[in-house]
Amino acid sequence: MSVRIAPSILSADFARLADAVARIEAGGADLVHVDVMDGHFVPNLTIGPPVVAALKRVATVPLDVHLMITDPDRYLEAFVDAGAAMVTVHAEVLPHLHRTLSHIRTLGAKAGVAINPSTPVAAIGEVLDELDHLLIMSVNPGFGGQSFIPHSLSKIAAARELFARSGARVPIEVDGGVDLENAGAIVRAGATILVAGASIFGTPDAAAATRALRHAADAA
Ligand code: DX5
Ligand code: ZN
Repeated sequence: MSVRIAPSILSADFARLADAVARIEAGGADLVHVDVMDGHFVPNLTIGPPVVAALKRVATVPLDVHLMITDPDRYLEAFVDAGAAMVTVHAEVLPHLHRTLSHIRTLGAKAGVAINPSTPVAAIGEVLDELDHLLIMSVNPGFGGQSFIPHSLSKIAAARELFARSGARVPIEVDGGVDLENAGAIVRAGATILVAGASIFGTPDAAAATRALRHAADAA
């Protein structure tokens, strides 16, 4: 599986989102990562379906929507209608994870599960047949610009082993504190989608930073 780069627009200038998307696409971004936060599951508020719909009008690559919200079931249809190609929900808030993943697929999107740093990889062990991607949080969710938690590398490796054992070909997305320094190690551990916010939009040239991250991933 070749590595995909998913810049997170959380760290972009929200007054210039179309420009942010154009820049990362010029740098070869494969996905646009969109962080939805509800001020309840995580201590921050960001955006909702209208902004996803606005991004959909300008993006040519798929929208990868990460729902950090307490009640994702209530909003799945709204986000898919708005243009989400990938919808990722958190295992920590879903007692009926299997049903939620099936629902996302029925709506026509790729269904993903995110796990927090304190959640074991085993949380997705019984839903592999419903899973299109696994998102491993390598920071505690809620804010951009935090430092990568080193233990995440062993979780990525554990996920890769689980998928190898079960024959599941599930992309592993890593989100939080990804930068040029650690991208190689993250890819070698088994990641196939890299999310990056601050290390792309915190630089003067988001296109060049996207390109540089891809080179770092490809060199791993
Ligand atoms: C954190 C979000 C991330 C965040 C990543 O809660 O899920 O997607 O934007 O940003 P960086 O790369 O700055 O850690
Ligand atoms: Zn995210």
